[in-house]
Amino acid sequence: MGMSAVPASSSPLLHSQPHLSFSLKQYKYRIDTEEAASHYSITDGGHSRSFDLTWAFGTGRVGQSYLFKSGAEFYEARVTYFESLKNLDFTPSRALDSPKDLEEAMYRPVGGAEILRCFGCHTTASNIEGSFDEEHLIPGVTCEACHGPGSQHVAAMNSLATDLPNPGGEVAIFNSAHLDPVDAVEFCGACHGAWWDVRLAGVKGVSTARSAPYRLVTSKCWGNGEARLVCTACHDPHKPLQTDPAAYDRTCLSCHGTAGGLKTTTAHPGPACPVASRNCTTCHMQKVYVPEMHDTFTDHRIRIVKAGAPFPE
Ligand code: HEC
Ligand code: HEC
Ligand code: HEC
Ligand code: HEC
Ligand code: HEC
Ligand code: HEC
Repeated sequence: MGMSAVPASSSPLLHSQPHLSFSLKQYKYRIDTEEAASHYSITDGGHSRSFDLTWAFGTGRVGQSYLFKSGAEFYEARVTYFESLKNLDFTPSRALDSPKDLEEAMYRPVGGAEILRCFGCHTTASNIEGSFDEEHLIPGVTCEACHGPGSQHVAAMNSLATDLPNPGGEVAIFNSAHLDPVDAVEFCGACHGAWWDVRLAGVKGVSTARSAPYRLVTSKCWGNGEARLVCTACHDPHKPLQTDPAAYDRTCLSCHGTAGGLKTTTAHPGPACPVASRNCTTCHMQKVYVPEMHDTFTDHRIRIVKAGAPFPE
C-alpha cells in the first residue's frame, strides 16, 4: 500500500511505459513520459489540449489513474492505465459514449471534498483539521496512516485511534487485539469499503467485489463477528499480498474440521469439506471479473460457488 499514490513524475509505471494511447471516435488520447514529466494530451484532429500530470493513483496492480492541476483546481484524467490491457481505457465509472466537447472528453473536474477523500485513502496526513495539505502529505499509505497520531483522514479511524495508548507522545502502535472483530474490519473498511459505504454509494453486482469488508461480513462464516476471520487473520498489512492459496488454509482450518464426518465443536464450529482438504480459497473465494476495472477481484463472501448461479447480493 506504500505506493498507492505518487507524484506522476516519479511513477515507475509511467517511466517503464513512456508512450500510452487510447482512442474514442475522433478523440485520440496520449500520455507521453519524459525524464521529468508526463504529458497528457488529447486531439480531435483539429484542436488539441495538453497538461502535465501531477499525481498517479494506484500501484498499477490493477491500474493507475491520474490527476492534474490547472491553477488550484484538480482534474481527473478521463483515461486510466490498466495492467490487463497494458494501455489506457476509460477511468472506471467515467466512460462516455459521446463527450460534448474536447474538455469533457479529456477530464472531469474534481471538487475539494472529493479530493480530500481520494487523498485520504491513498496518502497519509493529507487532511490537517479538515483542509487539504498537498505540500506536506506523505504519498502512499504509510505506517502513520494506520498507527500514527496524524491519521486524521478518516473519521472512523480517528474515533478508534483516540482509544489507543500513546505513551510519551510517541507514535501509538495500533494493535488490532484491542478492537473487537466488527471494529477491526471497519478499520480496514474505512478505506476498503465497509457495509454502509457500499450501500450508501449504491454499488451493485460484481463491482461490490472490490469492497472486501462489505462482502466478508455477509459470509455465513462471519456470523456476528469472529476474531478468527478479521482481515489480518489472512493479510499482513506489512507484507505484499500473498498469492499462494495454500497460505490461507490455516485461517479456514482454525474453524473448520479437516476430516469429513467429524462433529463440529465450539473450537471448530465449521464443518469439514466433503470435497478437498487444501487450497480452500480457490473454490470458496471466487475471483470475479469486474468489467470497469478490466480485471478480477476476490469475492470475500466465502461460500459454495455453484456453476452458472448468479452473483449473490
Ligand atoms: C488509509 C487507507 C487504507 C487503510 C486504512 C487500509 N488500506 Fe489496504 N489499501 C489501501 C489502498 C489505497 C490500496 C490500493 C493500493 C494500490 O494498489 O494502489 C490498498 C491495498 C490493499 C491490499 C492489496 C495489496 C496488494 O499488494 O495489492 C490489501 C491486501 C489490503 N490493502 C489490506 C488491508 C488491510 C488488511 C487493512 C486493515 C488492517 C487495510 N488494507 C487498511 C488503503 C488502505
Ligand atoms: C474510500 C477510500 C478511497 C477513495 C475515496 C478512493 N480510493 Fe482508490 N482505492 C481504494 C482502495 C482500498 C483500493 C484498492 C482496492 C481496489 O482496487 O478496489 C483503491 C484502488 C484504486 C486504484 C487501482 C489501484 C491498483 O493498484 O491497481 C486506482 C487507480 C484508484 N484507486 C484511484 C483513485 C482515485 C483517482 C480516487 C479519487 C478520484 C480514489 N481512488 C478514491 C480506496 C479509495
Ligand atoms: C494498513 C494498515 C497498516 C499499515 C500501513 C501499517 N500497519 Fe503496522 N499494524 C497494522 C495492524 C492491523 C497491526 C496489528 C496486526 C495483528 O493484529 O496481527 C499492526 C501491527 C504492527 C506492529 C506490531 C504491534 C504489536 O502490538 O504487535 C508493529 C511494530 C507495526 N505494525 C509497525 C508498522 C510499521 C513500522 C509500519 C510502516 C512500515 C506499519 N506498521 C504499517 C496495520 C498497519
Ligand atoms: C479468509 C481469508 C481472507 C480474509 C479474512 C480476508 N481476505 Fe482479502 N484476500 C484473500 C485472498 C485468498 C485473496 C486473493 C489473493 C490472491 O490474489 O491470490 C485476497 C485478496 C485481497 C485483496 C486484493 C484484491 C482482490 O480482491 O483480489 C484485497 C484488497 C483484500 N483481499 C482486502 C481484504 C480486506 C480489507 C479484508 C478484511 C475485510 C480481507 N481482505 C479479508 C483472503 C482473505
Ligand atoms: C471464524 C470461524 C470460521 C472461519 C475462519 C471460516 N469459517 Fe467457514 N464457516 C464457519 C461456520 C461456523 C460455518 C457454518 C455457518 C452456518 O451454517 O450457518 C461456515 C460455513 C462455511 C461454508 C458453507 C457456506 C454455505 O454457503 O453453506 C463454506 C463453504 C466455508 N465455511 C468455507 C470456509 C473457507 C474456505 C474458509 C477460509 C477461507 C472459512 N470457511 C473460514 C466458520 C468459519
Ligand atoms: C476443488 C474445490 C474445493 C476445494 C479446494 C475446497 N472445497 Fe469445500 N466444497 C467444495 C464443494 C463443491 C462443496 C459443496 C459440496 C456439496 O454440496 O456436496 C464444498 C463444501 C464445503 C463446505 C460445506 C460443508 C457442509 O457440510 O455444509 C465447507 C464448510 C467447505 N467446503 C470448506 C472447505 C475448506 C475449509 C476447504 C479447505 C480445507 C475447502 N472447502 C476446499 C469445493 C471445494
